[in-house]
Amino acid sequence: MKIGSRHQVVAVGLAPEGAGLTRTNGYDVYVADLLPGEQARVVVDHVSPHRPAAWARIEARIGPVSADRVQPACPGAGSCGGCTWQHLRYLAQLCEKRRILSEALAVAGSAVPVAPVVAADAELGYRNLGKYVVSRTSDGPVVLGAFAPRTHHVVPTVGCRVVEPVVARVAEAVQKQLGGSGLSVYDEPSRRGQLRYVLVRGGDDERALVGLVTTGATPAALLRPLADALRAARSEVEGVVWIRNDQADGALLTGDQTLLCGRDRVRQSLGSRLQLEVPIGGFFQINRTQAARLYQRVAELAVDGPGGHAVDLYCGAGGIALHLAAAGATVLGIERNPESIASARAAARRAGLAARARFEVASAAQLAALTDQADVIVVNPPRKGLDSETRAALAALRPDRIVYVSCHPHTLARDITALASSGYDLMAVEPFDLMPGTGQVEAITVLSRT
Ligand SMILES: C[S@@+](CC[C@H](N)C(=O)[O-])C[C@H]1O[C@@H](n2cnc3c(N)ncnc32)[C@H](O)[C@@H]1O
Repeated sequence: MKIGSRHQVVAVGLAPEGAGLTRTNGYDVYVADLLPGEQARVVVDHVSPHRPAAWARIEARIGPVSADRVQPACPGAGSCGGCTWQHLRYLAQLCEKRRILSEALAVAGSAVPVAPVVAADAELGYRNLGKYVVSRTSDGPVVLGAFAPRTHHVVPTVGCRVVEPVVARVAEAVQKQLGGSGLSVYDEPSRRGQLRYVLVRGGDDERALVGLVTTGATPAALLRPLADALRAARSEVEGVVWIRNDQADGALLTGDQTLLCGRDRVRQSLGSRLQLEVPIGGFFQINRTQAARLYQRVAELAVDGPGGHAVDLYCGAGGIALHLAAAGATVLGIERNPESIASARAAARRAGLAARARFEVASAAQLAALTDQADVIVVNPPRKGLDSETRAALAALRPDRIVYVSCHPHTLARDITALASSGYDLMAVEPFDLMPGTGQVEAITVLSRT
């Protein structure tokens, strides 16, 4: 395939980033704004030097648009790099997510059918965490937004309808207050300025925690009055945390944090029994309603009744572990973030589950040093999946069952292939949609020792 070549294509799927996937002359050709079933004449702009893949743009559409093409809920859909699937009808999104997962697992040699994706109740207003880049427009006002894909251009995102309403309200208030705060706005290319990012984490009872991320040299004297003004302006603000960050790698959070006012955590209930206190930097699933359903299903698939021993590896603030304990298992939760472990311990005490749920700050690869007893191990790693040391530790412990909860089909497929060589067979795949409007899919998979 050559740059500049023209082809007539039909989309057979949608890539997670939002481009239509076509299969042309042995290549995966990605075409922006082409939905499954739609046809077009395209011209190739870029060819991968590593794999048979190319990127092309539409010259002319051919035939009708898809019956599943809808008006995106957000006027700037896709431009902020966020909801790249909002122009596809929700039911069709669910089918596509299932296809993506099935194709990834087929590459791993799995013939296990993938269950239909468990749909979310709401397509909008579900994200409990807003992450904003601070920028200043040329004519003056400070805006909160997101980098447009592959640029340093900031697209305003205050007013985004995908975040919970309390997150949207508080972000708008922060944006207003920043103007008069005396803080300068950080400029990414020149690395000058003070204020870099703002985080808003929503919680129970329409409360929200604010994180202000600045360079390390920013004076506290400028931040404290801003924090107080924010709390005075919006009674929903539970607390304001200051995060100092001089890193150039795009990471928002560091451990260098100071509480400016209020509390440094916000309560997130999962069902009627579990209440987690989540810090600004701790991991928490961004769609709480779906997370509660997912955790409940993990417990059903992992725990057969009272008496078993379970491990929740990469346990975050303990959502899965506490569901396993509530189902009757004795659980060890392992997580490297100490704040998340403190939250998990406190939640276990509040739920009356502390006798059956122990939590340790450790790396996942240290599993074997922390226990020699596990009937079932639940793993819920970040997108990069399991490293080889952790896979080896899992296999050495020889649990009867591994329940792997994954947010990335390709690393899931890689790890399932590796675990098969340690004697674990894939038995079931149950996807959940935690992020409507995007190409992300979460999957529970069950593996049994042969
Ligand atoms: C996808 S989150 C899952 C959290 C939790 N299961 C939940 O549903 O809220 C992954 C978690 O793994 C933690 N983590 C990442 N790498 C780790 C490692 N090598 N060892 C232990 N924990 C790790 C992160 O801090 C994060 O809390």
